[in-house]
Amino acid sequence: MKSTLNNCKLFFSQFLSGERVGSVAPSSKSLALKMVKGVNFETAKVIVELGPGTGAITKYIIDRMRPETQLISIELNDKFVKKLKEDYPQENIHFVEDSVENISQILEEFGVDKVDAFVSSLPISLFPKEMIEKLTSDMKENLADEGVYIQYQYSLHKRKWIEANWKVLRKSITVVNIPPSIVYTCQKP
Ligand SMILES: C[S@@+](CC[C@H](N)C(=O)[O-])C[C@H]1O[C@@H](n2cnc3c(N)ncnc32)[C@H](O)[C@@H]1O
Repeated sequence: MKSTLNNCKLFFSQFLSGERVGSVAPSSKSLALKMVKGVNFETAKVIVELGPGTGAITKYIIDRMRPETQLISIELNDKFVKKLKEDYPQENIHFVEDSVENISQILEEFGVDKVDAFVSSLPISLFPKEMIEKLTSDMKENLADEGVYIQYQYSLHKRKWIEANWKVLRKSITVVNIPPSIVYTCQKP
């Protein structure tokens, strides 16, 4: 409970400082559970989380993943990365302080062949068009054929874009979050 409160305080302070966090508060448990539902934890060898923040979704990934699965979690904000590294010192869990713009290079440095799941909280509606296009192409290049890309959104702003670029397996709405959100679970077309 104390840790949840501290995470909320840290998140809100980063929002107020003008950092590109994309939200005022960490995701709710309800949203986090919808985000991890589409991951096949029994078979996944590599899971990549994009924009873990203070770890609201990370926790539910780590709770479910096997000890032999690698989690690579990429986050721009140094304060969030510092906290995540303290919270999860396990050898198979890696927090990288960098922008997802460098995702291919990061995966190459980890010697990743294929990614089984991208779990993304990135505020893609705030990203420039070229950045989303490159990120999409990088994710498709690195995603296994049966792998999934899971992304939540606070609005329908990027719905058409997601549907045009991915095969959407499932759309799931949660109102138990600030703000209410839609989770897209996708595969390569
Ligand atoms: C809406 S928050 C989600 C945080 C957390 N996953 C949650 O659901 O509570 C988005 C996160 O993406 C991070 N982020 C934004 N742009 C990024 C980028 N280019 N590369 C890596 N992380 C980024 C932000 O710092 C922030 O932590």
